[in-house]
Amino acid sequence: RRPVTVPGLHVMKAEGRKIVMLTAYDASFAAQIEHAGVDVALVGDSLGMVVQGQRSTLPVTLDQMVYHTTLVARGLTATLLVADMPFMADRDVAHALEAGARLIGEAGAAMIKIEGAAPHILASIHALTERAIPVCAHLGLTPQSVHKFGGYKVQGRAQEAAERVLGEAHAVQQAGASILVLEGVPMALGERITKALEIPVIGIGAGPQCDGQVLVVYDMLGITPGKRPKFSKDFLAGRGSIGEAIAAYADDVRSGAFPAAEHSYN
Ligand code: KIV
Ligand code: NA
Repeated sequence: RRPVTVPGLHVMKAEGRKIVMLTAYDASFAAQIEHAGVDVALVGDSLGMVVQGQRSTLPVTLDQMVYHTTLVARGLTATLLVADMPFMADRDVAHALEAGARLIGEAGAAMIKIEGAAPHILASIHALTERAIPVCAHLGLTPQSVHKFGGYKVQGRAQEAAERVLGEAHAVQQAGASILVLEGVPMALGERITKALEIPVIGIGAGPQCDGQVLVVYDMLGITPGKRPKFSKDFLAGRGSIGEAIAAYADDVRSGAFPAAEHSYN
């Protein structure tokens, strides 16, 4: 398998080939993802919830992100590795650069994902990109803003809110982001932003028209405690192994079978 690269993701968007992204937190799951031919592995700060059992992603530290990213990097060869900037590690440009340097240089990520489009975030996207650190922006239902939102609520439902998210999408692209993760927005807005941007848009609960999809690996294996989120699907159900489940997810994203309407918001 040829290594997945940042320019390669742009070619995939141009050619209309869907991008498959999935989270991983350790070397064994990374090897499963690698073997299944997933394009992008994400060490998400969702590990705070699904690995650590916390109520939100906010307690996750930079040291923990560096640790898990190091583990995942050891399980990958061709898969592109993205690491999340944890809560407050991007409180200003200097801290964002410091954190980016550790996640790339020490842990082995190829790209850093940052939530939001506040002025200091746009400045950090620009500063990282200038230093040849590719950035994945993250908009919509950004989990680090849970207290601001008052819960994990779909974003961009009202007309004004939709225009705001679209404006933020243009802003992160303008700041230099290489790709965008768009989470928890109505499918019509997911489609609109995907068509408006030059950079690939990877959706999670953002409808089927995005350039790719991402899920939390434990959600799509049906082992996350509690109710499965609407935008996810249990790919292990009726299958014999985790490897088969991940391969089925990759197939369904590439064919457009996932997500279906039942996994999307109107
Ligand atoms: O932390 C995470 O797993 C994420 C994805 C759900 C996009 O940010
Ligand atoms: Na995250």
